[in-house]
Amino acid sequence: MTVLVTGGAGYIGSHTTLLLLEAGYDVIVFDNFSNASPESIKRVEALTGRKVTLIEGDIRSREDLEKVFLNHAIDAVIHFAGLKAVGESVEQPLRYYENNVCGTVQLCEVMAEYGCRQIVFSSSATVYGDPHTTPIKEDFPLSATNPYGRSKLFIEEILRDLYVSDSAWKVVLLRYFNPVGAHESGRIGEDPSGIPNNLLPFIAQTAVGKREKLSVFGNDYDTHDGTGVRDYIHVMDLSEGHLKALEKLPQIEGVLTVNLGTGQGYSVLDMVKAFEKASGQKVPYEFAPRRSGDIAKCYADPTFAKEVLGWEAKRGIDEMCEDTWRWQSSNPNGYQL
Ligand code: NAD
Ligand code: UFG
Repeated sequence: MTVLVTGGAGYIGSHTTLLLLEAGYDVIVFDNFSNASPESIKRVEALTGRKVTLIEGDIRSREDLEKVFLNHAIDAVIHFAGLKAVGESVEQPLRYYENNVCGTVQLCEVMAEYGCRQIVFSSSATVYGDPHTTPIKEDFPLSATNPYGRSKLFIEEILRDLYVSDSAWKVVLLRYFNPVGAHESGRIGEDPSGIPNNLLPFIAQTAVGKREKLSVFGNDYDTHDGTGVRDYIHVMDLSEGHLKALEKLPQIEGVLTVNLGTGQGYSVLDMVKAFEKASGQKVPYEFAPRRSGDIAKCYADPTFAKEVLGWEAKRGIDEMCEDTWRWQSSNPNGYQL
């Protein structure tokens, strides 16, 4: 079976590609390298001993996509390609809508043209906005507080509309909580460009000495220690969820929406402590004002994922931090050699 992985050279895409190869799938990675390096795929090939068909292309380009579908018989698509920085999306909304929404429309058009109607889409817990309560279930009300989140909401709606128009479509919307960690080899991991926006990469870069100290955004939230609580999920668990979704696709009638989280919430300070333990390094921090748009608590009810996909997260906070540290300490400059 041949799977097209858009954005497959990126953080979650590269880990999922590795598992797909290990499971025997043929994989085509399609990426414009706007936030990734071909080095991640070279390493995936070295780790698995299998070849990936790596294609440089843009999901916004019909020509690029048609070339792929013309030359390969693709059974299903896992669609990771997208821009994902919340702050940047507020400053450059049109770029986000064009890349994420228009890119997905192009992709679906070309898929339909070539008779491929099975897609797993990377959505996000951000589509729940500020949830009225936790843990969060799939049927909670949806909203968005920034253009990035809105692009995910729009794409979810577009994929639902597509099924209404043509019931041959089979769609899984995976709503990720907070992906962290790295493959246990320490050879692939998250390689953010510039100053990391997300907590774990910032902590890891502080522990390795690249950043002076962590700013903890807010210590007056209604949580057990006043700092923000999130559902951190190991990227290998998340990737396993994609394989389960892919296996499920042929049996799906319509659109299946699934939370991928652990169900366990940890605060910023919990993560700092766990990372210090895993790395043996001090992580200096100071309290700073709340970051605009942040919410107090966000964690999943993962029951449905277990019921419908037979999937649950297996890796805990220690493994998340140990694997992040192995990757960060052996690749202090990420994929830059
Ligand atoms: P990433 O930036 O590492 O991966 C995205 C990949 O898509 C990159 O390799 C990038 O070069 C590629 N890409 C972007 N625009 C493209 C385009 N127009 N054409 C072709 N390739 C393009 O990010 P990630 O963390 O691996 O996230 C993967 C997906 O999961 C994204 O859609 C993201 O929005 C979603 N997601 C991520 C998180 C998270 O916290 N990491 C949480 C929820 C959802
Ligand atoms: N935080 C800090 N200091 C930092 C960075 C983050 O204190 O330098 C705190 C935040 O305030 C928050 C927690 O750490 O309480 C997690 O923040 P992240 O930026 O790592 O993650 P978010 O939950 O804000 O957002 C992430 C992705 C979004 C996605 C969302 C839900 O960045 O794209 O998870 O999936 F939508």
